[in-house]
Amino acid sequence: MNKKKIALIPGDGIGQEVIKQGVKVLKTVESLDENIEFEFTDFPWGCEYYLETGKMMAEDGLDQLSSFDSIYLGAVGYPTVPDHISLWDLLLKIRKGFDQYVNLRPVKLLHPGLTPLKGKSREDIDFLVIRENSEGEYSGKGDWLFEGNPEEVVLQTGVFSRKGTERIIRYAFEEARRQKKKLTSISKANALNYSMVFWDQVFNEVATDYPEVETESYLVDAASMFFVREPERFEIVVTSNLFGDILTDLGAAITGGLGVATGANINPEKKYPSMFEPVHGSAPDIAGKGLANPLAAIWSVAQMMDFFGEKQWSDKIEKTLEDVLVHESELTPDMGGKSTTDGLGDFFCLKLKELK
Ligand SMILES: NC(=O)c1ccc[n+]([C@@H]2O[C@H](COP(=O)([O-])OP(=O)(O)OC[C@H]3O[C@@H](n4cnc5c(N)ncnc54)[C@H](O)[C@@H]3O)[C@@H](O)[C@H]2O)c1
Repeated sequence: MNKKKIALIPGDGIGQEVIKQGVKVLKTVESLDENIEFEFTDFPWGCEYYLETGKMMAEDGLDQLSSFDSIYLGAVGYPTVPDHISLWDLLLKIRKGFDQYVNLRPVKLLHPGLTPLKGKSREDIDFLVIRENSEGEYSGKGDWLFEGNPEEVVLQTGVFSRKGTERIIRYAFEEARRQKKKLTSISKANALNYSMVFWDQVFNEVATDYPEVETESYLVDAASMFFVREPERFEIVVTSNLFGDILTDLGAAITGGLGVATGANINPEKKYPSMFEPVHGSAPDIAGKGLANPLAAIWSVAQMMDFFGEKQWSDKIEKTLEDVLVHESELTPDMGGKSTTDGLGDFFCLKLKELK
């Protein structure tokens, strides 16, 4: 019996609505597979919790989460709470505290109608971005000197340690070797004359341990252009925290938008729980109206199953996503449908059962 303990942090706004659908999918998997069992525990953390307690999560929040096999997170953010507080005091606290240094973001076209790119097919847009998730440009280091004075100076420091740089690049090479795919490094050594020169150097060093993996390197500006003009160039991409953040939003844009963009925050050593979440935020503009598209959150469940070693379920959930996307009227309004968040969640579970 593969029994897994899952911590649920639905968070704010539509996070609550979409996680509910993901849990339905997990329960459907449980009902279809006698070898899998899930135990869910709900955590009420997020901006509402902050407005009541002054904290985004409990003081001993990381301790409470540490015994779980995974964390399933909706979204955090609320108009009356500054975004840097909701981001740093919950999301980044978990990502950093649990050393989730790998961010996996598939850029995969699940239905040909979802891409705004002319003449691009599902075969053309199918790659994985591996983003460094623990340091780099998002290390939070810097200074604010002479604040409010005419000579004011702000420093935002990128931190690229050998350990941090090498482990993400090595992870990407391992993945490329496992999947027998080409690995592309994206950096910017011409302008960032310390950090990205170092990144390129480490990439070239690690490459010598993987002679069978085909490699390419692009500057981030050129890579952005190729994401749009020739996405078929990419198979597996490894890049820094900031570049990965921006490029994966572009990746989401060419595959159907935020409603179908997912991301996994992985601690590969499994010393700490990994976290699975849709890429989108709490969408206050549509929260509570049943308009939220749950498919990104459901795709996160597929990533979670893959991480648990349940590849057959990960594949089935992805296949069901493809099946569901064909039924336009069953989709939420952001995808041209007439259904609700709940309705689409139910329809998905129905289709998943049919696949069995
Ligand atoms: N991972 C996270 O928790 C996360 C990520 C991004 C933003 N945020 C936070 O969310 C709040 C809102 O941010 P934002 O508006 O910039 O980004 P957002 O992703 O919440 O919304 C952007 C736009 O996309 C739409 N949208 C997003 N997800 C959708 C879905 N599943 N179905 C249908 N439409 C969807 C929204 O209605 C909105 O118009 C902010 O407080 C921000 O800090 C959190």
